[in-house]
Amino acid sequence: MFNYQQFFSTQLQQLQKQNLYRYFLPVQKSAAHFPAFYFTNNKGIKKQAINWCSNDYLGMSTHELLIAKQSFVAHQSGTGSGGTRNISGTTIHHIQLEQTLANWHKKEAALIFTSAYQANVTTLQTLGKQIPGLIFFSDEKNHASIIEGIKGCKNEKKIFAHNNLQQLEILLQTADIHAPKLIVFESVYSMNGTISNIPAIVALAKKYNALTYVDEVHGVGLYGPTGAGITEQQQIQQQVDIINGTLSKAIGVFGGYIAANNHVVDFVRSFGSGFIFTTSLPPAIAATSTKSIELIKADSSIRKTLFTNVALLHEVFTSNNIPFVETHSHITIVPIGNEQLCKQIADNLLHNYGIYVQPINYPTVAKNEACLRIIATAKHVTKHIYHLAASLQKVLLSNENSQQVVSSKVQLQTAY
Ligand SMILES: Cc1ncc(COP(=O)(O)O)c(C=O)c1O
Repeated sequence: MFNYQQFFSTQLQQLQKQNLYRYFLPVQKSAAHFPAFYFTNNKGIKKQAINWCSNDYLGMSTHELLIAKQSFVAHQSGTGSGGTRNISGTTIHHIQLEQTLANWHKKEAALIFTSAYQANVTTLQTLGKQIPGLIFFSDEKNHASIIEGIKGCKNEKKIFAHNNLQQLEILLQTADIHAPKLIVFESVYSMNGTISNIPAIVALAKKYNALTYVDEVHGVGLYGPTGAGITEQQQIQQQVDIINGTLSKAIGVFGGYIAANNHVVDFVRSFGSGFIFTTSLPPAIAATSTKSIELIKADSSIRKTLFTNVALLHEVFTSNNIPFVETHSHITIVPIGNEQLCKQIADNLLHNYGIYVQPINYPTVAKNEACLRIIATAKHVTKHIYHLAASLQKVLLSNENSQQVVSSKVQLQTAY
């Protein structure tokens, strides 16, 4: 007979043996001191560290006006919505957020979900299942939620090499010209920091009569004159068919969405199981997200501070011989390779230098491509950056295996 407990424990042991087991650090987040936070070390002592791996890129989750807004609306409307969108879960705050998102992305409409993961899975599966014969064209580095969405339906899938538009065109040429097609890609790739050439992808889509779907999860809030993302920066918002984004990273609150024309949004609203059959976002979360977007649109100085910090980080890393992948985005990747080594480096940084960088390993990245994904936020200050560079240099040089990392100069070709 099948031994369930043994099955689970063997699988988990294998993960541990491969150094792929995930350890979570319980973070005591501090609104007053972000990016500083507190944690309890393995001796039970409370310590402070600086967070270098948060996706709260602008520090909006700690913004006084947003904290006040969330508390105010929670007092007015309660903590949860109490229903799906169809059954009493649509409030004025949901409607206002969708209108704000649609305007921001220069689209007719938007639809909010409980996460961008959910938005990707639901939208891609709905389109795949409902459009007869739809063929997906997907970048090989697309996020797990995109892969999950595409895998969840039986449609034909064609995977192109990361940001390789020549290969994408060859794949488009091999498909039936009359078949419906959807090109799915990200604007900023989370785990290597590359940025897509969206106008070139849109041009291919028009040539081969395909729809385009861009995941802007790491672009919204940061790029473009009003922070609407890479599609805004590259002035291509109106030509991309569907934009996916998150409310949980740069916007600093919680949830996800798509923005598109009325037909597409109404279609996913009407046929998307993952939208229909789940409780809507709490009203206070929706209202706070709207407020955050308003603040981001109105004040470009927060974004400027973030990019000034990223530029300084790169300058100081270069002068400290710390290799990183050179891209045009805010994501800084220090490639390490071996998973065990990557974890040792991260542990050393946390326990001896008060620096928290989560090691990134398989399946988030390929096996043997473990890396440190470092995020300078708008809330880091100059002394944090110098402290990180000096500490990382010491840690890398202190270990025979990681010394090689320091001597390698890594450059990644960016598509844009
Ligand atoms: C590229 C990409 N898409 C989607 C998601 C999911 O976003 P959310 O956290 O809102 O579910 C992530 C999250 O990490 C991501 O990196």
